[in-house]
Amino acid sequence: MRVLSGIQTTGNLHLGNYLGAIKNWVKMQDEAECLYFLADLHAISIHNDPAELTRNTRDMAAALIASGIDPNRSILFNQAQVPAHPELAWLLNGTARIGWLNRMTQFKEKSGKNRESASAALYVYPVLQAADILLYQSTHVPVGEDQRQHLELTRDIAIKFNQDFGRDVFTIPDAYIPKTAARIMSLRDGTAKMSKSDPSDMSRINLADDTDTIAQKIRKAKTDPEPLPDNEDALEGRPEARNLVNIYATLADTTPEAVLAQYAGQGFGQFKPALADLMVTVLGPITARYNELRSDTAQLDDYLALGAQKARTLAQPTLDAAYDALGLVRGR
Ligand code: TYM
Repeated sequence: MRVLSGIQTTGNLHLGNYLGAIKNWVKMQDEAECLYFLADLHAISIHNDPAELTRNTRDMAAALIASGIDPNRSILFNQAQVPAHPELAWLLNGTARIGWLNRMTQFKEKSGKNRESASAALYVYPVLQAADILLYQSTHVPVGEDQRQHLELTRDIAIKFNQDFGRDVFTIPDAYIPKTAARIMSLRDGTAKMSKSDPSDMSRINLADDTDTIAQKIRKAKTDPEPLPDNEDALEGRPEARNLVNIYATLADTTPEAVLAQYAGQGFGQFKPALADLMVTVLGPITARYNELRSDTAQLDDYLALGAQKARTLAQPTLDAAYDALGLVRGR
């Protein structure tokens, strides 16, 4: 079992990232060898403020460590220090089909109406993601629901490459997607994903938010006038209510059924303060640790350099095998 996952360095860590992915990353450290990385090379597909990218990269490292990623146990690094990622991505561009990339819904969403002026990097983004995963013979990739299609594409690329070149160069990985927190929704619209790119900060909880901000965002979260029901099926058609129940359940490490058993018949006037309290209890210590860690940039850079060194060593045999399979001549 080899676990790997990544996060873009385009902004702050938010509750969707934390509950949908990072919480599982932390847990999986007890079960396997884990590699977690900052997808800074992915970030340049839409990002173009260099100073901000540098700051975001270190901040994201601090956020992951504060959330419980242990840089001495897991391999924590940023892509830009491991050239094997873009190298393998180029080799895989020979295998990935344009028809496959044309189906990627994230490219369609992110490029929007202005597709002609989207970067080429945004288009081949999923091939770099496949390289990230396949370089390390990863078996489990803990991600949120929005990454499912990229994982399917990674599998398709690996299967085709292995078949085309007649060797098992790559392990076929599986997505590991949580049941309840796979898709945490916006606090302003229960049908839209909580995301870094939503222009309204009220739509998401950021790891850097203080207690008052969290309380205010939950108080103002969109809901409906009905009390909470006693079973999950009755949340059908109530996306905002379902989202808040899911968030509560994941923060409390329990199930939505158990949350409803406790709050059935109560309105949001009662449920929201309980949710805000729980959130502050869980996130408060993480935020405090984050604020401490992010000021020591030298220490963060050391962690990333150490992780990158380990990652480079682990990646090399697979990269060599891919070059060999393709018949590319290289001196050793
Ligand atoms: P990114 O940076 O958008 O998000 C990081 C992780 O957070 C999850 N996530 C969510 N989960 C539940 N609800 C939400 N509202 C929510 N928003 C985000 C994402 O599913 C993801 O797991 N392409 C990836 C980064 C990447 C990667 C990889 C991941 C690059 N290479 C290789 C895995 C393996 C991305 O943009 O994630």
